[in-house]
Amino acid sequence: MSESIISIQGGSKTFAGIYAIKNVDFDLKPGEVHAILGENGAGKSTLTKALAGVLELTEGQMFFAGEECNFKSPRQALKAGIAMVFQETSLVPSMSVAQNLYLGEEKFYNRLRGLYISAQQFLQGLNFAVDPTVDVAMLGAAQKQMVEIARAVLHNAKVIIFDEPTATLTPEEKQHFFKLLQQLKDKKVGVVFITHALEEALEEADRITILRDGEHILTDDAKNMDRDSIIQAMVGRELSDKLYSKDGKRRSRPRGRKILSVENVSMQNIVKNNSFSIYEGQITGIFGLIGSGRTETAKIICGVEKRDFVHGGEILLNGKPVRYRVPEQAMQDGIAYVTEDRKIEGFFETMSIGENIYMGELAASGKAGVLLSNKLRKNISDEWIKSLNIKTLNDDARVSELSGGNQQKVVIAKSLTQRPSLIFFDEPTRGVDVGAIQEIHDQLSALAAQGLAIVVIASYLPEIMNLSDRILVARQGRIVEEFNVNEATEESIMYAAVH
Ligand SMILES: Nc1ncnc2c1ncn2[C@@H]1O[C@H](COP(=O)(O)OP(=O)(O)OP(=O)(O)O)[C@@H](O)[C@H]1O
Ligand SMILES: [Mg+2]
Repeated sequence: MSESIISIQGGSKTFAGIYAIKNVDFDLKPGEVHAILGENGAGKSTLTKALAGVLELTEGQMFFAGEECNFKSPRQALKAGIAMVFQETSLVPSMSVAQNLYLGEEKFYNRLRGLYISAQQFLQGLNFAVDPTVDVAMLGAAQKQMVEIARAVLHNAKVIIFDEPTATLTPEEKQHFFKLLQQLKDKKVGVVFITHALEEALEEADRITILRDGEHILTDDAKNMDRDSIIQAMVGRELSDKLYSKDGKRRSRPRGRKILSVENVSMQNIVKNNSFSIYEGQITGIFGLIGSGRTETAKIICGVEKRDFVHGGEILLNGKPVRYRVPEQAMQDGIAYVTEDRKIEGFFETMSIGENIYMGELAASGKAGVLLSNKLRKNISDEWIKSLNIKTLNDDARVSELSGGNQQKVVIAKSLTQRPSLIFFDEPTRGVDVGAIQEIHDQLSALAAQGLAIVVIASYLPEIMNLSDRILVARQGRIVEEFNVNEATEESIMYAAVH
């Protein structure tokens, strides 16, 4: 067995006396790609934060390059050669790419020009198509990630840790990302990445570590594992992986009344003459690649996208034209938008889970003055915590203390308490583990069966296929094709999305 570059032995971390990870062993070899898997709240982020000096272990030992170490800050860890790329990037948006790369070393570059030239050469050497003079705020998710990786390489990182790096990437960007990992491997850099996409771990990782409830369950070569064995180890029981089975033909629910029609809606170059209808009692899936305008269209309907930008067309709710300037107006009419961008639009981070869900209840009553009794309030939040299996270390945890996937469940619970009749879910299961995806899908199906109109926007085809009764394909700002799920295949949908 070759030497580890970094390892943790018997590592534990507690928050207010409760274990987030407990007695975990982990090791990484030079040039290895190591995936960490586990359900939401299993302790993946906590473990990697300990490796990167973001958190200090409460118990256990850590070794780096053969010596015991104890990093007190991410800065110290980075100096030693350990870089971590967080889900929310740590770049400074208002600074240029070059400034971000050399942050803290500006004194070596007393002229901006020198900084740009040096950054340009460095980025080219890595084959990254990023303009060093542009502000980071202007970059897309994939390019931001390139800058983060470049910065890590620039610091001669021996270990690079990624927390859910692919969650915000398009399929093409993911391909590119994994190619980059291969380059890092060739440089003998050790890579750790967290993901909920089991296929990614199976295909791209050399070894896989699985955590459950803060404990280390197993570490093995990816080639010795498959989807079923991973799921079994993650949840500790056999979970029927019916989620994405292709064969189990489903009958679609019958379409109910038409609740919404969108007629020739346009916005700048993003949405072009878009027309389609949504029906009650069904789940309508909208599939499309980046630039297909699917999210923008949903945002126009729900009043999230500013009205001034809408350049024409009509939206009819139950036959009456509507035009919302803010999401609250849409909500009053029973239209909810559950966003993919939970950090920005989702919730009040410093409030507890119960308070957040309760805010949804208040909004539904339409009268901020109406107060629910404490007991009723607790009942409501308990019910949701149970039905969506929201995992917390203690009952009145703030949302900011929850793991990423559990935060997403709170966003969903909050919008469902508002009892809308038409709901748009934009990437509802991003960052959510396999077991919880099933729970969320079951909830959505139950809502459709109750007669609600559900719209799901997702970029993972199997998810769309599994969930929808009807599938709309968006391309270049318009819905171009419509399928009943019984007649759709992944190939036919993809063909429509690309051609
Ligand atoms: N700062 C904190 N304060 C209190 N509890 C915390 C804090 N950070 C994490 N936890 C708790 O520790 C546990 C493990 O969280 P962690 O973020 O490591 O999970 P995860 O495996 O990354 O999950 P996900 O897949 O949802 O991101 C969770 O129950 C979480 O609520
Ligand atoms: Mg996490």
